[in-house]
Amino acid sequence: MASRVILLSGLVALIVNAALALDNNPILDFCVADTKNTVLVNGYVCKDPKTVQAEDFYASGFHIPTNTSNQLGFNALPATAAQIPGLNTFGISAARIDYAPGGIIPPHSHPRATEILIVLEGSQLEVGFVTSNPENRHITKVIGKGDVFVFPVGLIHYQRNNGSQPASGIVAFSSQNPGVHTVANVVFGSNPEIATDILAKAFQVDNNVINQIKSHF
Ligand SMILES: *[C@@H]1O[C@H](CO)[C@@H](O)[C@H](O)[C@H]1NC(C)=O
Ligand SMILES: *[C@@H]1O[C@H](CO)[C@@H](O)[C@H](O)[C@H]1NC(C)=O
Repeated sequence: MASRVILLSGLVALIVNAALALDNNPILDFCVADTKNTVLVNGYVCKDPKTVQAEDFYASGFHIPTNTSNQLGFNALPATAAQIPGLNTFGISAARIDYAPGGIIPPHSHPRATEILIVLEGSQLEVGFVTSNPENRHITKVIGKGDVFVFPVGLIHYQRNNGSQPASGIVAFSSQNPGVHTVANVVFGSNPEIATDILAKAFQVDNNVINQIKSHF
């Protein structure tokens, strides 16, 4: 009886573990992405290991601020498996983020990754995320240079540079391809669009309010 309980809890632990392991575990030293291969797999097909070079594991320019002259006032330089082929199958990626004064990264989620943000410059970076239903608890803080903040996998989060100077940071993700769902674009800018009356009911407003928002996406 006791051994059955142990076996059962072992199985449950395995299943739970599998459910939490988002990117698959590597089974080779490396599987450098052959980004030109048209075969569709979960990730990228491996290049012939004999042709792999140091450049496959390399990127540069992450010390240079990106251009934040855009509507939202932020920009990002990604370092995912799409840019660094050697990241394929390793469950990790990163990005440089720049924020103009007043710039925001609008509410969004990464379906496949927890994110950790390390602030390089800035003194008034508002960060926050919201927990699942039914609590919908808003966890938020103002952080600055040298501070670190974590955004749990899948949860909707945002950032705003409330300072008068540009801010920047490096983020790392627990996926080679974290994915991004930007709430406004997903809800109001999908293609084809979600029916206006569905959104009107969901947001408890008139159709014309929904149509007005849709017209911006
Ligand atoms: C930044 O982007 C804006 C808008 O696209 C452009 O007009 C401007 O020339 C860019 N600045 C630099 C330094 O590249
Ligand atoms: C943002 O900046 C304004 C002006 O300095 C300040 O009044 C406000 O409290 C700041 N917001 C946060 C969340 O710190």
